[in-house]
Amino acid sequence: MTDAEAMADEFDTMAAWTADAVAELGQSHAIPAACRGSGSPAALEWLAGELRLRPGMRLLDCGAGVGGPAELAAQRFGVAPVLAEPMIHACRASARLFGRPVVVAGGERLPFRSGVFEAVWSLGVLCTVADQAALLAELRRVAGPAALVGLLVFLRTVPRLPEQPEGNHFLTADELDGLLAKSGLAVLKHAELAGFAAPEPDWQAAADRVEARIERVHGSDHRWQSAQHQEKIIGQLISEQLVAGRLLVLEPVG
Ligand SMILES: C[S@@+](CC[C@H](N)C(=O)[O-])C[C@H]1O[C@@H](n2cnc3c(N)ncnc32)[C@H](O)[C@@H]1O
Repeated sequence: MTDAEAMADEFDTMAAWTADAVAELGQSHAIPAACRGSGSPAALEWLAGELRLRPGMRLLDCGAGVGGPAELAAQRFGVAPVLAEPMIHACRASARLFGRPVVVAGGERLPFRSGVFEAVWSLGVLCTVADQAALLAELRRVAGPAALVGLLVFLRTVPRLPEQPEGNHFLTADELDGLLAKSGLAVLKHAELAGFAAPEPDWQAAADRVEARIERVHGSDHRWQSAQHQEKIIGQLISEQLVAGRLLVLEPVG
């Protein structure tokens, strides 16, 4: 299987199945099920606060997946989110679940004018991108003069990983610092994902019901098995602390 096929199983096919499952189970499942790898609501709220999200603000969510984090920001902070995501079925799934504006686009080449967003975030995306410098340059380009940029990045804590999900490129903290310095983004603040409270039991239960329904319907499909395999690898790396999530608040400089 190629990197592209494995990533399509994990991020495209699973997105479509997630929207189908939410349609069966009810809209109260939508945000928990559509936060795919973006950490806990507590972490997202911390990041939203640090990015100074306010009602009416234009927030770009780059690599938005199924759109859960953008919707959480819209509902709790009143922002007007715009989503960019390269997987077409993930775009369709987010539009179906939340109806927010979304473009099919990779973060390395965003179809927006420079400086149009008042805040930008990209959650769990950097490690899935081959040209990470290009992604950071684009986030910086579309951020307005007073805009802050938020990232959730999964970092490698050891020189070598025993295994990693197809298509992933985990940086060390030092490598990330070097990349950010070259991208004209200065770190204002950071926080470790592991330090935030786990989701409330009802949030987790909703996400689990969606997962269970997808498994019931698609568990014998090789694409479900491939997505599960990918998720199991990243889950294992995180639980063994070989990879750890870090939230960053960045300010464009220069
Ligand atoms: C771990 S998921 C996170 C999704 C979402 N940000 C969230 O937190 O729920 C990574 C996302 O990055 C997207 N992605 C992959 N390559 C990308 C690229 N070149 N530019 C932007 N997004 C990309 C994937 O399709 C997937 O939706």
